[in-house]
Amino acid sequence: MNTLSQEKLNEIRNSVDIVDVVSNYVSLTPRGKNFFGVCPFHDDNNPSMSVSQAKQMYRCFSCGATGSVFHFIRDYENISFSEAVKKVAEIGGVKVDIRSDKKIKNNIEYHEIYSLSLKYYMNNLNSKSGKEAREYLNNRNIDDTTIKEFQIGLSLDKRNSLSNLLIKKFKEKDILDSALVGKNDYGMYDFFQERIMFPLYDLNGKVVAYSGRIYNKEDSAKYFNTRETEVFKKGELLYNYHRARNVARMKNKIIIVEGFMDVIRMHTIGVKNVIAMMGTAVTDKQAHLIKRMAKEVILCFDGDSAGAKATKSCIDELSKIDVIPKVVRLEDKLDPDEYILKYGKDKFLRKIDNPINVIDFELSYYKEGKDLNSAEDKTLYIKQIIDEINKIDDEILKEVTIKKIVDETEIDESLIRSRIKKKTKKAKRDVINKLSKYEKAEKNLIYFMLKSDDVIKMYDKKVTFMPDSEYRLLAREISAYYHEYGFINEVDFMDYALTDDEFKQTLKKVNQNNKREEFTFEEIDDYINVIKEFNVNKAIKRMQKEIKDLTDPLEKAKIAQKIIELKKGV
Ligand code: UTP
Ligand code: MN
Repeated sequence: MNTLSQEKLNEIRNSVDIVDVVSNYVSLTPRGKNFFGVCPFHDDNNPSMSVSQAKQMYRCFSCGATGSVFHFIRDYENISFSEAVKKVAEIGGVKVDIRSDKKIKNNIEYHEIYSLSLKYYMNNLNSKSGKEAREYLNNRNIDDTTIKEFQIGLSLDKRNSLSNLLIKKFKEKDILDSALVGKNDYGMYDFFQERIMFPLYDLNGKVVAYSGRIYNKEDSAKYFNTRETEVFKKGELLYNYHRARNVARMKNKIIIVEGFMDVIRMHTIGVKNVIAMMGTAVTDKQAHLIKRMAKEVILCFDGDSAGAKATKSCIDELSKIDVIPKVVRLEDKLDPDEYILKYGKDKFLRKIDNPINVIDFELSYYKEGKDLNSAEDKTLYIKQIIDEINKIDDEILKEVTIKKIVDETEIDESLIRSRIKKKTKKAKRDVINKLSKYEKAEKNLIYFMLKSDDVIKMYDKKVTFMPDSEYRLLAREISAYYHEYGFINEVDFMDYALTDDEFKQTLKKVNQNNKREEFTFEEIDDYINVIKEFNVNKAIKRMQKEIKDLTDPLEKAKIAQKIIELKKGV
């Protein structure tokens, strides 16, 4: 939750009109009571986001994204909630002492420590002690312009040169929190010693960590990274995001590579819409960031078998949110950096401009290491490909792939076809319907709890336990909020609760595909009864299990009687 008071937040929120603010980002047209625009938070084709002047809220009827002006700015600009509040305060001309916000204060120290360390490391590289490191970089064809642009630096062969510098300006606790310095019996010491320093940035381009490379000796770890801190979370950022974002939006194309050296090399040949995963598997957060950057996503990982594996796992993660990337595979096990150095810019650009589709990549991926003359390998291969074909939505691509695998394996076409599922769309719809009964009740109940005190009262009186923990927590939070303030105001509640990521996701689900404003008490009762039924069924199941474990016939009969009573109540 926030550290600013609800009153202060209200004051800041009321200092602007959400319609004005949002229309700076998305073009809005009035329709009825509300304004409508294309939702920037999912791949929207027709305007499904409404902005309500009366409620000072936005809501996407399709993906469910919702919130106040703060959340809109936070999510659009990928900044923290506090930073978004600060922005709105600036627009509205409200004075806010954001420094009193403890977390932000710490972040300011953190950023100052990093900005000092950055200057220090960059300076080292230029100094006499940096000669060998400069030669190393020059040998790798990294010139001075590139060094400057990527703010490459050097940590010295000394135990505590950075610590000594920092302690003059900052408190020991803040220095240790920055993760650049450790402390043991002999005092403070620099984490990075004798490494070429590559700054790692947050989504806004602030330096929040380093990756240090060995250059003049053997070491088990080629790169050594800052540990995760309050500010540096590896799974939440993408290397070069802040530089690539606008170019990627303009070209509607983003290239993803494994290492930041690849990003740096590609910059030198003018490819700037590129980000690096830095050797970790793509997280759900990163996948969403990527999705928002551009429609066309190209994976150009290292050419070795680890790179192929990483490609496959990235495809799987992205396809969970309906991003279907394209793939470039580099020959001779090279990474993009090495490929460009070996074959030159033009040949690399041709590769990037001619990516293969996911299924062609998968055909060769699954073939790797298999002998298609062996019956076992061939069977496994066909199974794996059929699984992939069943995930394809595009009917033409499906056909093409079936033909390919028939040719390749010389298996009877009808046999393969018998394993192909018919309409994937229908399969998807079935899943939604299956989810529906209890979840629908939970979602609708919460949806209207946010709009009516009476519904909250009904919930308080009649609902003991929501089936799913995420809805349970959210409903409890709404009820607690109501009891604290005496009434529910949706946008106030959002500002209060939506800084929590879990609540944000849950609220999104609650609002997804729902545009209703009116309800009847009968339907609320229906939702509550469905939830009750779930609880009763659960209790019955538990008792049935109990009976099985019991030996005493009297005890058994007692419980059986209870079950009968419960069943009557349903
Ligand atoms: P690579 O081993 O492919 O690095 O790791 P690279 O880009 O080819 O680096 P050079 O050319 O040898 O200098 C890819 C990414 O994995 C992370 C780094 O972020 C790197 O960019 N990594 C790699 C580590 O964190 N630690 C390591 O020891 C190695
Ligand atoms: Mn490399």
